[in-house]
Amino acid sequence: MSSRGMDGLPASSEERAATLARLIAPVLPDLERSEQVLLKLLSSQYAYIQTLMQHIERFRGKRLRPALLHLSAQAFGGEAPLSYEVAALVEMLHLATLCHDDILDESATRRRMPTVNAAWGNKTAVMTGDILFSLAFEHLGRLADPRPYRILSRISRLICEGELLQIASRFEVELDEGRYFDLIEKKTAVLFGAAAELGALLAGASEADGRKLYEYGRRLGLAFQIVDDCLDLIGVESTVGKSLGSDLKNGELTLPLIHLLANAGAPQKQELLALLKPGQEGLTRERLRPYLDRTGSVNYAITVARNELQRARDEVTALPASQAKTALLELPEYVLVRTS
Ligand code: IPE
Ligand code: IPE
Ligand code: MG
Ligand code: MG
Repeated sequence: MSSRGMDGLPASSEERAATLARLIAPVLPDLERSEQVLLKLLSSQYAYIQTLMQHIERFRGKRLRPALLHLSAQAFGGEAPLSYEVAALVEMLHLATLCHDDILDESATRRRMPTVNAAWGNKTAVMTGDILFSLAFEHLGRLADPRPYRILSRISRLICEGELLQIASRFEVELDEGRYFDLIEKKTAVLFGAAAELGALLAGASEADGRKLYEYGRRLGLAFQIVDDCLDLIGVESTVGKSLGSDLKNGELTLPLIHLLANAGAPQKQELLALLKPGQEGLTRERLRPYLDRTGSVNYAITVARNELQRARDEVTALPASQAKTALLELPEYVLVRTS
């Protein structure tokens, strides 16, 4: 896993970084501009809060959602003045969800750094996430265009529902693929969808084209979360840069495990169920690995992700040729080879 992508594709860290850099090259100046907006919005007059905001801002993630928004805007003819602020606010909402997610998952590392909950405790982390959510909506509410607020307020509610559905389904060994998809759509895919849709709409795309780009982002996001869930089970923590194994520890069944439970023989299933009990941490990544290998469950999950990515591509094939369109067509390949 450390030197190859999820699908056996070559993916050294240099190659991965180079692939992402190449894909976002057409929007690099836009990303830099929205990054500056984000930086400015995150500042606080209070030293304690400023330290938290700096911690969050300094250890930058991949900025995939702003990149998606800018690429989508370019595919429809270019950036609108509002795109930079909206891209920054989309990333701010993402940061809020990460901050809260790390509390829920009791994760200690994010972006190769201690999480807010690990460094400052849960109370501070709850409020940090809340500040990020409130700040984003404060600014969204001031925009002359009402669409970003309308779209992103609904998306935020869906993300919270997704996270709550996941908590409610912990250690539910009967969780099936349909409910898993519903859950990852809400907690992850809708924000990818909204980023792509907003880029298009702000650049003047029709509502129908906005819906197509939403669908593109949604399917990309589904695949992204499936790959992330595979990484949680078989990825290398030092490569991925965040705490792994938390899904198993918390009894959160993801696609490889759902496939495994449905396809293991009765004795194996009994063994797995005996290990998968709250508070015991009996089913470790190491114990699980040979079972997953036997049923080819990670490969299965990657095939499902690949299918979503193909359907994502189908949504943008009719766009006029542009560098941004090419990047939108190639971004799915990056999702499969990423290991961070
Ligand atoms: C992490 O998202 C949360 C998931 C939806 C799996 P990213 O992998 O985009 O996180 P950063 O922003 O790059 O850290
Ligand atoms: C990510 O969920 C979804 C949100 C942040 C809303 P995960 O718990 O699967 O993501 P990671 O692995 O911690 O990034
Ligand atoms: Mg998590
Ligand atoms: Mg989680």
